[in-house]
Amino acid sequence: MRMKIVAGNWKMNTLPAEGAALAQDIVNAIAEVPSDVQLILAPPFTHLDRVEEVIKGSAVALSAQNCADKDKGAYTGEVSAAMLAATGCTYVILGHSERREYYHETSATLNGKMAMALVNGLRPIYCVGEKLEEREAGRHFDVVGSQIKEVLYGLTPEQIACVVVAYEPVWAIGTGKTATAEQAQEIHAFIRKTLAEKFGVLAENIPILYGGSCKPSNARELFAQNDIDGGLIGGAALKAEDFIAIARSF
Ligand code: 13P
Repeated sequence: MRMKIVAGNWKMNTLPAEGAALAQDIVNAIAEVPSDVQLILAPPFTHLDRVEEVIKGSAVALSAQNCADKDKGAYTGEVSAAMLAATGCTYVILGHSERREYYHETSATLNGKMAMALVNGLRPIYCVGEKLEEREAGRHFDVVGSQIKEVLYGLTPEQIACVVVAYEPVWAIGTGKTATAEQAQEIHAFIRKTLAEKFGVLAENIPILYGGSCKPSNARELFAQNDIDGGLIGGAALKAEDFIAIARSF
């Protein structure tokens, strides 16, 4: 029933020509990916146009990695959700831990970004996840629960139906250390339960992706879990072969 999704978050990597080539390699291999798996590419802003040219007409969707919390106007350096939609994006990653940590994004900022994304028809890929010290202190359920409640509980049923959630434990991002399938399933189930407390049966249809050192060698076990509907992939999304192998892991 739920969508299966494998999304590549390229972060601040590749130059535009390299990004276009990577997208082309992925499009060329798409026949190897089961047709019920939605592939999404999230390149840097500067590559969106070029990557869109490459994936146009294919089943691959385009995502941005962030958007402004304002509609338009004098906000130097910001990129609006309307601009992204007009560039061909259908998704936008919001609340990635790197944005929370390095650019001080708070739930208040994220509420604004969420509203802008939804008004402009973008599907938010909303990231949550605890830091190592929070997990070690046994606070991961509290932290993730708050991240879900503070930003998603204000949405309408129509809006929540557009949202994809990504659970990315900060201690697993780029570290080579993956959450075990059991650890990931446990918290994915908790996220779904938290969503169900507010949105009832709608929670059953919300895709929840795992992110954090996901690679071809561990994707199969992760994706086999009941509440894991795919992955948000960093490092391994920069190699077409690995990204495709992950997408074949359901
Ligand atoms: P890695 O796959 O490189 O650990 O990154 C995960 C991530 O942050 C995706 O958004």
